[in-house]
Amino acid sequence: MKLSERTAPSTAACTSTAFSSRRRASGSPPFPRRRSQEVRPISATSSRCRRSAKSSAVSRSATPTPRTRSTNSVPTAKASITWSSGCRSKVLDRDSLFALLRRRPDVEAPNLVAVDAADRLILDEAATALSDAPAGSVAVIGDHYGALTLSAAVTHDSTGIRVFQDPLTGEQALARNAEAAGLTSCYRQCSLGQDLLEGVRVVLLQLPRSLSELAEIAEAIARHADPGVVVFAGGRNKHISTGMNEVLHRSFASVRATLGRQKSRVLIASGPVASARSSFPVTEHIDELGLDVVSYGAAFAGSTLDIGTRYLLDFLPRVDPAAETAVDLGCGTGILAVSLARLRPGISVIATDQSAAAVASASATARANGVADRVSTLRDDVMSTLPTGSCDVVLCNPPFHVGAAVHTGVALKMFAEAGRVLRSGGEMWTVYNSHLGYRGRLQRLVGRTDVVGRNAKFTVTRSIA
Ligand SMILES: C[S@@+](CC[C@H](N)C(=O)[O-])C[C@H]1O[C@@H](n2cnc3c(N)ncnc32)[C@H](O)[C@@H]1O
Repeated sequence: MKLSERTAPSTAACTSTAFSSRRRASGSPPFPRRRSQEVRPISATSSRCRRSAKSSAVSRSATPTPRTRSTNSVPTAKASITWSSGCRSKVLDRDSLFALLRRRPDVEAPNLVAVDAADRLILDEAATALSDAPAGSVAVIGDHYGALTLSAAVTHDSTGIRVFQDPLTGEQALARNAEAAGLTSCYRQCSLGQDLLEGVRVVLLQLPRSLSELAEIAEAIARHADPGVVVFAGGRNKHISTGMNEVLHRSFASVRATLGRQKSRVLIASGPVASARSSFPVTEHIDELGLDVVSYGAAFAGSTLDIGTRYLLDFLPRVDPAAETAVDLGCGTGILAVSLARLRPGISVIATDQSAAAVASASATARANGVADRVSTLRDDVMSTLPTGSCDVVLCNPPFHVGAAVHTGVALKMFAEAGRVLRSGGEMWTVYNSHLGYRGRLQRLVGRTDVVGRNAKFTVTRSIA
């Protein structure tokens, strides 16, 4: 399955049909028993981006579409998409917009922001291109909480903005912030592919953390966008590496870096060079597990085996032999889900993650290993849509990041949700870096928790709900 084929609609991106309210209302079990289922900062390679250069790079002659804000139509080769209404914002300028942006439902904390200096720099560097862009020719990729999308709408009256965000919490935060700002009709969520990029001349991109995620995005833009497309890819200096320049150079003839500002920088790419075939997904055989792992660009660890996951796998034979239902919480490529399904022919597993790439990867990994009839996938924020008391086992290798920040917030949300979704007596198996000392939290949020293994780096616990 190509990433572009994934179903990841905004706020309703559940790819599982297992937990519909209809099913629950009719008394069917919520958990179907046999579901067929360097980093060295880049130095500026040129002086600060000149407006004239950006304007000429956005080739107006390539697609002579007039700005038609009143009709709100997106020009595409196949059809025009009509927008429900114009954008009538409740906020008048960028500063008042930024003041109302929130991160929720993602973790909120005093040290975690909804808008950063990279957002501001991307918007400033792209200002002329955004003002010149015809309606429907702007795409935003990796917007954290809506600062890029909504600011383009407020400051440049951009309409028909197409958006792709890999994490579901990003989609949900954008939707809530758009509602608060009165800007819900200015954008729509798309999957990473033709629907997102066809006819697009300006791309605003928050640089992802991994090079493979960036490579997949760059390939998609080069393949589907207008030949005159200009990409404004920004991030915090500490997260930008020379490797990012190289990755962009594989898909664009020109890549240059702007001068930095407030510890942030923007890479400007133009002259797309489409490769004959996509490099994603990647499939690798992991000899020690006898498993084929399939990964899209943004999936955690790619198609390799994380060392924490490897340690947790040692404990799978000790999972309750009577268990019929399990959840791989924060599944990534689905290695835990698929391994458990192979070990226990009688068990059904839901592999769930908020990342669109992870969910697509886990589905593909299940298919590649012949257990797709018992491993289903669900794109969800910490399995919040699964019914209370509905499963026997939860497996979890929780993230210790929220976005790029080291933070325990998501892990704690996961523990609390595991305590809710497990039936009484159900088991949660967790692996974590020992210094995080999660045992007490697990005990409080899930139930009695025993340390069942510890090596030089990791601890594995079993909690009984
Ligand atoms: C340490 S990785 C573990 C991946 C996989 N289980 C493995 O063992 O290789 C943590 C995973 O949690 C996912 N994650 C982060 N925030 C999440 C959230 N709010 N809801 C669901 N999954 C989330 C990440 O996308 C990532 O795939």
